Amino acid sequence: MASTEDKAASKENTSSWKDSIYNPRTGELLGRTASSWALILLFYLVFYCFLAGMFALTMWVMLLTLDDYVPRYKDRIPHPGLVIRPNTLDISFNKSDSTKYDQYVQQLGKFLNSYDDTVQEKNENCNPGEYNLQDGEMTKKVCRFKRSTLSRCSGLTDTNFGYHDGKPCILLKMNRIIGLKPSGDPYINCTVKKDNPVQMQYFPSEGRIDKMYFPYYGKKAHELYVQPLVAVKLLLTKEDYNKELSVECRVEGSNLRNNDERDKFLGRVTFRIKVVE
Ligand SMILES: *[C@@H]1O[C@H](CO)[C@@H](O)[C@H](O)[C@H]1NC(C)=O
Ligand SMILES: *[C@@H]1O[C@H](CO)[C@@H](O)[C@H](O)[C@H]1NC(C)=O
Repeated sequence: MASTEDKAASKENTSSWKDSIYNPRTGELLGRTASSWALILLFYLVFYCFLAGMFALTMWVMLLTLDDYVPRYKDRIPHPGLVIRPNTLDISFNKSDSTKYDQYVQQLGKFLNSYDDTVQEKNENCNPGEYNLQDGEMTKKVCRFKRSTLSRCSGLTDTNFGYHDGKPCILLKMNRIIGLKPSGDPYINCTVKKDNPVQMQYFPSEGRIDKMYFPYYGKKAHELYVQPLVAVKLLLTKEDYNKELSVECRVEGSNLRNNDERDKFLGRVTFRIKVVE
């Protein structure tokens, strides 16, 4: 008997539970009539369209005030970081095995493509030692930096960049900073932490970074801009092989920061190099 009672109760329960989803007597769905649902949907549709419209409008107004050619905010010009190519801080290879240094040689070659003399011939021959100021012009001219100025590190005469004879070339460049005008006469100075010094050669001579490559005016205005490069050739000898050498390079001779305690890459870079034979 108890079981029939239970059945009846459970039947009632199911029907009221079903009713709460859809009640055929009143035509309510989830407790609301169709017209009530329609009104709610309409309200949200209008509301979200309004929000989207507001967003689009403010975006549009803000974009109108931006200029593709001039960066909007230029309060304080940051100091540039120093980076090297090949793109690693751990250079290690066997000078007698080209498969061990090919990746470095290829990276350098690829990186220097945009510095090819034929490409750079199209750029301006600027006045050394002077900033190339062109604030007035819309499209800025680019100062020529020919690959051949890197001489023995250009990859033109020595296509292995010295890796095959254990005297590898490393390329250094400063990050692009819009509006940066380094004072003084910046140059790169590298040191190897070791008792007896390693001989080095710099290209251009003395590792000079000419002022004529500054300031940089930004990607759009200064589209074909190329950063000035400095190549350093480490003239390693037999006694330097099989050792991990730590090389530190810094930008010196200018107001550019190179000893920031918190940022190890500001105006300087430290990398390791190990050559075996
Ligand atoms: C470097 O490569 C040469 C030629 O393949 C090989 O004879 C030599 O053992 C290698 N040196 C080292 C330290 O692996
Ligand atoms: C390069 O740096 C080393 C170590 O800081 C210093 O002794 C040397 O005088 C510097 N050379 C030049 C040309 O600035």
